[in-house]
Amino acid sequence: MRFARFFAFALFAAPAASSGAAEGPILTPPPPLSPKINGPRVYGARPGRPFLYRIPCTGERPIRFSADGLPPSIALDPETGILRGTAPERRGEHPVTLKARNRHGATQRIFKIVVGDTLALTPPMGWNHWYTHYNRITDQLMREAADVMIASGMADFGYQYVNIDDCWMVKPGDPNPELGGPPREPDGAIRPNRRFPDMAALAEYIHSKGLKFGIYTSPGPLTCAGFTGAYGHEEQDAKTFARWGVDFLKYDWCSYGKVAPGKDLAAYQAPYRLMGGILARLDRDIVLNLCQYGMAEVWKWGREVGGHSWRTTGDLGLEKGDRLPGFYRIGLRNARLWEHAGPGGWNDPDYILIGWVGNAHRIDDPPQYTTLTPDEQYSYMSMWSLMAAPLFYSGLMSKLDAFTLNVLCNAEVIEVNQDSLGRQARPLRESEEELVLAKPLEDGSWAVGLFNLSEQERTMAIEFAELKLKGRQRVRDLWRQRDLGVFPRVYQAPVPRHGVLLVRLWPAG
Ligand code: GAL
Repeated sequence: MRFARFFAFALFAAPAASSGAAEGPILTPPPPLSPKINGPRVYGARPGRPFLYRIPCTGERPIRFSADGLPPSIALDPETGILRGTAPERRGEHPVTLKARNRHGATQRIFKIVVGDTLALTPPMGWNHWYTHYNRITDQLMREAADVMIASGMADFGYQYVNIDDCWMVKPGDPNPELGGPPREPDGAIRPNRRFPDMAALAEYIHSKGLKFGIYTSPGPLTCAGFTGAYGHEEQDAKTFARWGVDFLKYDWCSYGKVAPGKDLAAYQAPYRLMGGILARLDRDIVLNLCQYGMAEVWKWGREVGGHSWRTTGDLGLEKGDRLPGFYRIGLRNARLWEHAGPGGWNDPDYILIGWVGNAHRIDDPPQYTTLTPDEQYSYMSMWSLMAAPLFYSGLMSKLDAFTLNVLCNAEVIEVNQDSLGRQARPLRESEEELVLAKPLEDGSWAVGLFNLSEQERTMAIEFAELKLKGRQRVRDLWRQRDLGVFPRVYQAPVPRHGVLLVRLWPAG
């Protein structure tokens, strides 16, 4: 019965071996049977707007949830742990004690609802359809992704957004009747294509599970895949999204270059400033993700125009690897922008592509099991966590195997990503052979990633003086969730080729 949720799921997932691909070694022990509350400890919401949050909690179900100090406008379902209602009108912090109990034990922790103008106080987490379903996305596939987010246990670790990417609208001129047709209603309202018969019902389905619904459009006349964009209909489309129940918008530059008012900074900012302003006036909280591949140093102004995250690079799925796989190159570029991330505004190096993923160069090909080695996958997830990157998985939900879930769902690794201080790790050392990223956490501890970029195993060290830490440190291996001991001055260990050692340091005694 132990870890039933994990294993039951892995059983109905297709065995990775059927493709010749091998699952790697699982480093992380399964979560305990007693309840453990995961996910963020702070949560931003705007006054009086709809509120929805499913408490991420591992442990054997049934779990009974309760809460102390819950604002009266929000109700908790004790069986599902879903908080639903309206954010309080009073601005400021509303600390709530979340409690969870099952037959193995009980736990509680403080969850601070911060009512104000800032959303995404910690990096958003979820799933996005792009790298798997491309232009094949349907209402049914979105519902299945939401089902799996719950059934696989991902939601118990904090994954909550279920996001459609491009290709849900009409594609003007497409002969396929499922995709073509009039792009808008006579009054100008955007029309989904026939694969999305009722967007509001889809949103409602996702919300019924306590999850959130994200959507995608472009400020240009057409999206990158040639579907209908928001140009000239920005306010109308944003209101439609709000009416449908959208919680997240990815706003992708695409064809906007053709209609942009110029090439200066103001022109780069214009479409995002427009949409950011519109969303800020809506009676619904919608997190805004700017997707324009890092043009005009978006990290310097993404927040000011209303963005909550901004892609810093081109598409990860299109990035050519060299000696190292593409995610290292994207990750390195993103890592150098550490000073620009913080609560409410995050550098976005694109999605987590592991497990079964499609080929962005040949989108008609069926998904294949990742060619990244297990060590590379641990490095990928470690980097994204240390960089406080939005954590969006974009592989095939229906074929999640136990190894992929293990990489995606380590509570202590995710805690580094979701830390309330909201700092992005700083590169401490960077060379051909190694990268060391260090991130200060709210409790005064540090998370440190020692990445071996070289072609053979290598002993890597973190000297505590590099972090200006005095005295002995207690060191814990976050992937193995194991204390390594107390060390006076330095911690060092062998790290495999392209692998990582992800540790957390606390002052000892
Ligand atoms: C790209 C974007 C991708 C994906 C794609 C859809 O511009 O960077 O993440 O959204 O468009 O066409």
